[in-house]
Amino acid sequence: MATVGWVMTVGGWAVTWASVIIVLAAHNTKVTIGRISECLPELTPEILPQQHYRTESGIMCAALAMEKRAIQYTFTSNIKNCTLEGEGLGVDTNALKMVATPPTNTLEEVAQGKLTLASTPFISNNIILNSDLAVDGDDISASLNFYHSAYRLVYPWWAVDLSYTRTIYRVRITMRQDSCCLLRSHDIEVRVGDVREESGNLSSYTLFSTYKGPYDISQGHIACDRKDGVSGRYISIQRVTPEDHMLQLVEVKVFASLLPN
Ligand SMILES: *[C@@H]1O[C@H](CO)[C@@H](O)[C@H](O)[C@H]1NC(C)=O
Ligand SMILES: *[C@@H]1O[C@H](CO)[C@@H](O)[C@H](O)[C@H]1NC(C)=O
Repeated sequence: MATVGWVMTVGGWAVTWASVIIVLAAHNTKVTIGRISECLPELTPEILPQQHYRTESGIMCAALAMEKRAIQYTFTSNIKNCTLEGEGLGVDTNALKMVATPPTNTLEEVAQGKLTLASTPFISNNIILNSDLAVDGDDISASLNFYHSAYRLVYPWWAVDLSYTRTIYRVRITMRQDSCCLLRSHDIEVRVGDVREESGNLSSYTLFSTYKGPYDISQGHIACDRKDGVSGRYISIQRVTPEDHMLQLVEVKVFASLLPN
């Protein structure tokens, strides 16, 4: 049951949206709204907060989900129960596409050991805190095992090359956890692209998720989810506000759907 039933773009919105929603709603199918959302503490990974409403139809439930910037909705027609998941977590106002929710238990981690690139690293006592330290499989925040951008570098960035285009559902980030530097982890964008980009201008990549922060240890690992999946070969992470706060990534795990056999 790994099939994504259908995908539609904003272009065809007015024409086909209503009929598509009715088809799904009749089966009480959970519908994912393909929109950019905030990264969340992994402490509450798969269970998005739910709100229940009464709506007269699946279309109205979908419209409510759009208005309340929810991530997913389910309309149960016989009791007119409209359940929204992740209300308020959607960042963008326009849904990019809607998909029947794919199962998330068929994902594999695809970033470990892959080639990385990043803005100039920080050097501490002759040790270079290079970009590859964020995919070395070690996600314990200890001294000097993370990527750390150089001082006085605005919009620091990091990227991993998966070597193939994959459909990405989750990017899990381990931030630096020592108390000196927690506040540095904020205003981060996760993007997905298909071409190698070394200029630090990642605007051609698709925005996958955002993380406002600032980070706090109680958040544990940060999970950035796109339940609709975004395809690409490069995953980038960048600070997008101009403070001189460096970018420090202990580990980045990227979860993609399994390749068909
Ligand atoms: C909608 O369904 C949920 C469980 O799926 C339930 O907890 C909630 O009370 C229902 N709401 C209404 C208004 O029936
Ligand atoms: C970044 O690249 C885009 C094209 O991909 C371009 O339109 C934009 O001006 C660039 N921004 C900067 C700050 O160079």
